[in-house]
Amino acid sequence: MDKKTFKKYGYQFVDWVAEYLDRVGEYPVCPDMKPGDIKQILPANAPAQGESLDDIFKDFKTKIFPGMTHWQHPCWFAYFPANNSPPSILAELLTAGMGAQCMIWETSPAAEELEVVVMDWLRKMLGLPEGMKGVIQDTASTSSLVALLSAREKATEFNSNIKGIQEPLVVYCSDEAHSSVEKGAKIAGFGTDFIRKIPTDPDYAMIPEKLEQRINEDLKKELKPCCVIATVGTTSSSAMDPLDQIGDICRNYGVWFHVDAAYAGTAAVLPEKRWMLKGIESADSFVFNPHKWMLTNFDCSAYFVKDPGSLIRTFEIHPEYLKTGVDREVKNFRDWGIALGRRFRALKLWFVLRYYGVEGIQGMVRKHISLAQFVKSEIDADPHFELMAPVPLSLVCFRLNDGRSDKELDQLNRKLLEYLNQTGQLHLTHTTLKGKYVIRLCVGTWTTDEKDVKKSWQLIQKKAQEILT
Ligand SMILES: Cc1ncc(COP(=O)(O)O)c(C=O)c1O
Repeated sequence: MDKKTFKKYGYQFVDWVAEYLDRVGEYPVCPDMKPGDIKQILPANAPAQGESLDDIFKDFKTKIFPGMTHWQHPCWFAYFPANNSPPSILAELLTAGMGAQCMIWETSPAAEELEVVVMDWLRKMLGLPEGMKGVIQDTASTSSLVALLSAREKATEFNSNIKGIQEPLVVYCSDEAHSSVEKGAKIAGFGTDFIRKIPTDPDYAMIPEKLEQRINEDLKKELKPCCVIATVGTTSSSAMDPLDQIGDICRNYGVWFHVDAAYAGTAAVLPEKRWMLKGIESADSFVFNPHKWMLTNFDCSAYFVKDPGSLIRTFEIHPEYLKTGVDREVKNFRDWGIALGRRFRALKLWFVLRYYGVEGIQGMVRKHISLAQFVKSEIDADPHFELMAPVPLSLVCFRLNDGRSDKELDQLNRKLLEYLNQTGQLHLTHTTLKGKYVIRLCVGTWTTDEKDVKKSWQLIQKKAQEILT
């Protein structure tokens, strides 16, 4: 492609993205699609000859775009957010344009040094302990796997990498922990039989006494406790495990302590929410996702570790073709995680942090929290609805409750969720809490305003009335 053509379409695509983001609220949040709808309109083979960008772009608009879900829609309240932002999108364009591999310092010095700098900015913004060092991973799932692998090596004096796991090692998390913990424990060779799901209290937070009890039971069976993963902001209800008490237990028993704050971590930019991280000094590792609630395009997961030495010892490998003259002076991030090849993710984070500033990010997070608190207060005031969990941040868990049995309420709320999502005007998802079907509403998209939340709440009330009558 020549420069002229590249520029012509480049400007056109930027125009398209700008218009899209401006009007994203006008689309049905989710496409009306059946599995296979898109595949059947696409050719089975790649074209033998190249095609024009006009044709490709036309097909994007008519065939692909109609099958997309609009995660940046102002009434996107599903799962957790995956918000992007204009500065982040523009930085992604620069990253793609440079197409650099940022695996070691020598393959892109600025990428390595910028990553060191922005991760330290983030550490300070969240109030994480001074000694912690950061590295960008792709996802929180990978970050927790990295923690599990580091814990495994530390517990076996770095011998599992050589001999394989010789004795059962045990992983602990709450029964509300994200499924990535189980996946990570499977991949890291712990085995699902050696994951202990510790019971939670009525607010869905891990009960530290039960953790300690379980560790002692395992010790009696001559099993080796290896890693505890606590969650700050669980996926189902944003529950907060008590880090201080869990951290003390980890210290007493010499167990690696990892904290998964994938969604909630961003809220630690607010001094009034720092209580969530009380006890973080005991953590060996910590993860949160700027790609969830910090305006940074997917993917970008911020992983912090207290002792980079054990992280590097777990992952380092020195093939001749990657050796450089400066290896002793620099951070070669290829040794801080699983993949060798690395995207330049620090650039978009740098753009976001500079463009919005700490106060801009704090303002957005505060707004989302207060909009969620508005929904909570509406639920509290409406006798047809029941709040199903505390709302420490911007996730509200609720159900319609007219006094029927729990089993019937499960059906009723399933139906309500289906009706609401069918309108295309908003998108919500569900979970179960202590066996009960619950609707989740999470505010976290940068395009969301007060009017969107108020309109959505009215729709929820209207649809609830309709199915009750
Ligand atoms: C608490 C928690 N941990 C981990 C994850 C996984 O995040 P990722 O998609 O970055 O792997 C999620 C996803 O929502 C989550 O809520």
